[in-house]
Amino acid sequence: MVSQSCSRDKIRGIRAWVSGGSGALGMAFVRALLSHGAAGVVLADIRAPEEGTFRASDGVHFHYMDVRSVSAVIESLKRAEHQLGSLDLVVNNAGIVAEHDLEATVATNLKAVIEATEAAARVLGKGGMIVNIGSAAGIFPAREAPYYAASKAGVVMYTRSKARRLFSEKGVRLNVLCPAWVSAGMGKVTEMAPGWERLAEVVGVMEPAEVADALLRIICDKEMVGMAVYVSKKTGVCYPLRGLRPMREAKL
Ligand SMILES: NC(=O)c1ccc[n+]([C@@H]2O[C@H](COP(=O)([O-])OP(=O)(O)OC[C@H]3O[C@@H](n4cnc5c(N)ncnc54)[C@H](O)[C@@H]3O)[C@@H](O)[C@H]2O)c1
Repeated sequence: MVSQSCSRDKIRGIRAWVSGGSGALGMAFVRALLSHGAAGVVLADIRAPEEGTFRASDGVHFHYMDVRSVSAVIESLKRAEHQLGSLDLVVNNAGIVAEHDLEATVATNLKAVIEATEAAARVLGKGGMIVNIGSAAGIFPAREAPYYAASKAGVVMYTRSKARRLFSEKGVRLNVLCPAWVSAGMGKVTEMAPGWERLAEVVGVMEPAEVADALLRIICDKEMVGMAVYVSKKTGVCYPLRGLRPMREAKL
């Protein structure tokens, strides 16, 4: 489902770098950007997308890289800039759920996002944009996954703290998008703990395209620098830190 409120013109020609682009949400982001006229996308991941998912003629390049290595991120961003001609949008989307491994959780979900934001801020010019992918678990407690929730809460607060100065000093917009439950990727669970079942009932379960639609709305709305944006099946796209106030339609 594509947002009626998002003008194609604002996406047309965009050149983007999406980490975790081989995963469920990453692929939905890449598809949504391309279908709205993005000029090119680099998909950066530790695993390649399924064969045949994208063609070179779609304007998609794959970089095999690990976001936990800041030098690999910097190299990938610079290569993306070279391959695509310039870079307008960075989506820090790679993430894991690994409640048995605190170190990996924090390294991938929080430290890598902070480092990639700062690397991207150096590469992107005025008018550039960074969207960090947080989670509903970074806003509301997730009793089944406290390490994951803590790492995502860090992403939310880092983004909100960093955004104003980044915009005033460099003209780069920074936001965090916090999806609730999605039916695919890490949200696709075959055996749910009782707590998860209850949560799925409360927030509803979205398709990846619905989260991609929220990403497009953030890109289209130039006035919402630093906002944490929440999206769930039950509420749609809204600002959770303002009492779940619905997001107004993006200005066209
Ligand atoms: N699916 C959901 O219900 C849901 C809900 C809220 C937030 N999120 C967030 O959305 C993002 C994408 O999740 P998804 O559901 O598409 O999961 P997914 O597992 O399908 O995709 C995650 C991608 O990140 C990649 N990745 C993991 N570690 C990496 C690393 N070190 N370097 C490079 N790439 C790496 C994986 O290979 C994978 O392709 C994550 O940040 C996740 O926390 C997902």
